[in-house]
Amino acid sequence: MSAIPADLPLRTDLVGEEPYGAPQLDVPVCLNVNENPYPLDPEVVEAICRRVGEEAPGLNRYPDREHEGLRKALAAYLKEESQAALEPDQVWAANGSNEIMLQLFQAFGGPGRTVLGCDPTYSMYPEYARDTFTDWELAHRLPDFSLDMETTIERIKALGPAMVLVTSPNNPTGTPLPMEELTRLLEVCSQVHVSGADQSARPIVVVDEAYIEFRDPGTPSAVSLIGRYDHLAVSRTMSKAFAFAGARVGYLAASRGIIDAVRIVRMPYHLSALTQVAALAALEHTDLQLARVGKLRETRRKTAGWLSEQEYHGQPLTVVPSASNFILFGIFPDRNAIFGAMKEAGVLIRAVGPEGYLRVCMGTDAEMERFRGTLVDVLKRF
Ligand SMILES: Cc1ncc(COP(=O)(O)O)c(C=O)c1O
Repeated sequence: MSAIPADLPLRTDLVGEEPYGAPQLDVPVCLNVNENPYPLDPEVVEAICRRVGEEAPGLNRYPDREHEGLRKALAAYLKEESQAALEPDQVWAANGSNEIMLQLFQAFGGPGRTVLGCDPTYSMYPEYARDTFTDWELAHRLPDFSLDMETTIERIKALGPAMVLVTSPNNPTGTPLPMEELTRLLEVCSQVHVSGADQSARPIVVVDEAYIEFRDPGTPSAVSLIGRYDHLAVSRTMSKAFAFAGARVGYLAASRGIIDAVRIVRMPYHLSALTQVAALAALEHTDLQLARVGKLRETRRKTAGWLSEQEYHGQPLTVVPSASNFILFGIFPDRNAIFGAMKEAGVLIRAVGPEGYLRVCMGTDAEMERFRGTLVDVLKRF
């Protein structure tokens, strides 16, 4: 609980709000924030230390505000990873994709503007909306957590949102967004007027691809459509598959117009010189950073299979198909009791998303073994 005295002139709409975040607890098995569980390879660690050491004497100067080297390296990564031919000025980086998303809300949201999301989805989005005085509206997903295309399109036409925000694979459900659906949303948006904006303004579609590297091999990423659609923005991160959450590096791929809009609202020198060189060192070792992604996909496949063989009160568990590094499963009348008992036993997962569901992130083999053993025990007790 935060302790903000009543005589502090906190913004009225923030009174009673709590800081966002999953618990950071000292427990043996942390499977709650969708990180890559494998530490960096010593070769990458050495490269990061070398780069940081070279940079340190120059820390009396501000960093490159336009982080040109990093944007070039990220464009090269997108070419390699998603076959997207982007110029460095179609790429932009910030302190995590959280900051990228906030910058998008700052540039395109604001008073009188609406952003449409498709829930259940990532629980930070309403906070960016709150912080930028943007209206946050929802089009609910179908029972299998895919987009309800007809309702979503109706809502787009009725609301005239400045942004339509879709997560693929979605968090917390793991559901991917098929390319045909994305293309349809982009086509619809190209015909819709944005309420609260100039008559000529059309909505942008933002795809949050925080977990995209975990998709099934051969599936395209939304970045491959950027050349065709100027109103498409794809947010990505080095925090998940790329095993770099602690460094805080997220990035945006979009048309030059969208990037230039974001450049207006960014803080001066938002990305520290140390972050930039650490990210460059990691990107120079992309193969090592991504080495465990295939293994984590396999862990997901095995864990989903195992979960669907488990029963609770005589009923098989529901397991939501996932294209990410986590799995949503349930359905429990009292998910908090199960979450709490797992935590007591040293396994931290997450009680998040639709009522009755729990989410588990893929860990190392030892962590998953402990997860399975603990879950079996806990399900017997409740
Ligand atoms: C869907 C989604 N987007 C964005 C983020 C933020 O990631 P980061 O700020 O570390 O890039 C997360 C983190 O869990 C997420 O689940």
